Parts: sequence; structure tokens; C-alpha cells
Amino acid sequence: MSQYLSDHVRLGDDCASVVILDQTLLPNEVKYLTLREPEEMFEAIRLLRVRGAPAIGICAGYCLAALAEQRKNLAPAQFRVELHRLSQHLNSSRPTAVNLSWALNRLGAQAHSMPEASPAQIAAALRDEAIAIHQEDIAMCKAISGHGLTLIKDGDGVLTHCNAGPLATSQYGTALGPLLLGRERGMNFHVFADETRPLLQGARLTSYELQRAGVDVTLICDNMASMVMKNGWINACFVGCDRVAANGDAANKIGTSGVAILAKHYGIPFYVLGPTSTIDLNCPTGDNIQIELRDPEEIKSKFYAQSMALPEVKCYNPAFDVTDHALIAGIVTEKGICRPPYTQSLAALF
Ligand code: MRU
Repeated sequence: MSQYLSDHVRLGDDCASVVILDQTLLPNEVKYLTLREPEEMFEAIRLLRVRGAPAIGICAGYCLAALAEQRKNLAPAQFRVELHRLSQHLNSSRPTAVNLSWALNRLGAQAHSMPEASPAQIAAALRDEAIAIHQEDIAMCKAISGHGLTLIKDGDGVLTHCNAGPLATSQYGTALGPLLLGRERGMNFHVFADETRPLLQGARLTSYELQRAGVDVTLICDNMASMVMKNGWINACFVGCDRVAANGDAANKIGTSGVAILAKHYGIPFYVLGPTSTIDLNCPTGDNIQIELRDPEEIKSKFYAQSMALPEVKCYNPAFDVTDHALIAGIVTEKGICRPPYTQSLAALF
């Protein structure tokens, strides 16, 4: 699995820092950053140096554990207040992916379950919990990959949007997992990767990961998805997710719902792949999912030598959209493939 850069989020050797691969520099530069300060950690998530719902959760867990380690000499009451404050701050870095709050809440519950423990004991327990979150994600991605692989056959064409590969998770990834696992087993797929405007996760990360793994990948602009579907080149769409509501509505990278609508038009099954840590049963429908709005300059000037629009032009830059559950043929989790009606099949997972 070494070609998948699976060490892209880890706890530093001193247990008081977090080491990440800066994904904003890929594919041109492989550079690791050591994060120590709360602001560096917040900024790394906010600016997508580490990104993808499960990877954000893993990173946040390591960040809080590292910050706890740094503060283990504080008085117990002050330590707990600090822990809560730092957790809230990390949680405010991005709103849409539920894995962020899910991981931080797991660590918070761990600390809460040790009322008599010293700060040093709590810091050690948080480290173990963060490592467990990471290890569980590796296992979940492998299981998702196996289930997803049953949905396609050798030679199939698959369209994906954004990046739900190893860089967004750990090891195999979710939407890319079946393709990578299949490749390891000698299968060949023809993958079409949407470039994913405006931050180009498809171009910079998905095509990079698939190419390096020896998967046949063709990069297309987002507005070419209809064309490749009409050409008959796509047998299935595989995408990841940032938060799945109780009724199966799924938030994922902006543009995903358009792909689902196109797939419906062309009679192509559209699958969402994600771990149960991305399913939020407290969220009744997609209307309850907060969608992150980002800097207009991502549309106008980022990646261009000069601005591509007048400075006074207004931009609307939502980072995610919600795909209606009626457009989704199946939601692939580590526990199996959920089918409609999702209100029942998702609830049965827990
Ligand atoms: O803004 P990003 O790059 O964090 O968005 C990532 C996605 O939308 C992924 O598809 C999603 O997080 C699933 S990752 C397994």
C-alpha cells in the first residue's frame, strides 16, 4: 500500500505534535508539516492542507491528543477547561463533514469518563482514542472497498467526483477504495475523474492517486460528465460523502448532486460510499446540513496567474451540496450496502 501515501496524517514522535502531508501542494510537491500550535492545526483543516471527511476526523483527534499532551502539567480543573476550549475551536474550522465533531466528541467522552484521572492519564487515554479512530478508519475503508467492488465488474467505466481516496481517509479510501482493491486483484477499470472546481481535488489528488496505483484514469472538466455518460462510457458513479442524513440525503463536494441528476437521466447507478462515522442520524434530512461557504477568490483567482473576473464581480462559493436520497442507488458502508428506503436501512446500522 506504500504508493498510497497512507502516512499523510499521524501523531508526531513526541506525541505533542501532528504530522500531515500538505495536500494543497500536491501533485507538484510532497511536503510534510509538523503542527504544534492550535492555530496551525485550525488553519491546516480550514485551508484543506488536510481534507476529506474521515481524514479531517483523524487529524482532529490527533490534534486534540497532542494539545492535551502539551498541557498535561496543568491543574486538573484548568486542564479540562482548556481541553473543552481547544476542542470547540478545532470543531469550528469546517462545518459540513460530521467526522470532525464525531472524532472530537469521542475524545471528549473519553475524558469525561475519567473523572478522577490526572491530566497526564487523560492525555494518554486521548492519544489511545485518537489512534483507535485512525485504526478503525483503515479497517472501515477496507470493508467499504470490498462491498463496493461487488457493484462493478472487470472492464467497467466509473465516474467519480472530488477525492475520496487514501488521502481523504486512510489507506484505500471510500469511493476510490473498490477501484484500488480491484486493481490489486488484477481487475481493470476505466475511471473518469471530474477535476472538481474550484479547488481541483479531482485533478490534483484523485488522478494522482489512481495514476500512481496503475488504474486507468482519465481527467475531465466537471462540465464533461454528461458527455462521457452519453457516450456510454460510465457503468456506475462512485462518490464519497461528508455527512449523510437519516433519510439518506448525502452532502458531498459541490457538483456531486449534478452528477447524480445526470446519472439518473442516463440510467446509471449512483453510489455514495462512506464509513458509519459519516452518517448523522441526528440530522433528519439534507436541509439540516450546514453547507460551508468559502472565499470567492477560490473561483476568481486561485490557480490563475491573474484574476479571471473583475474584482467587483460577486461570487457564490458553496463547498458542498446535498444529493437527494431519491437519486442514490445505494450507500456503501463498512457494514454493507444500504438500499432505499434509507430511513430504515441506515437506522439498522446502529
Ligand atoms: O473540501 P474537501 O476536499 O474536504 O471535500 C472532500 C469531499 O467532498 C469528499 O468527497 C468527502 O469528504 C469524502 S472523503 C472520503
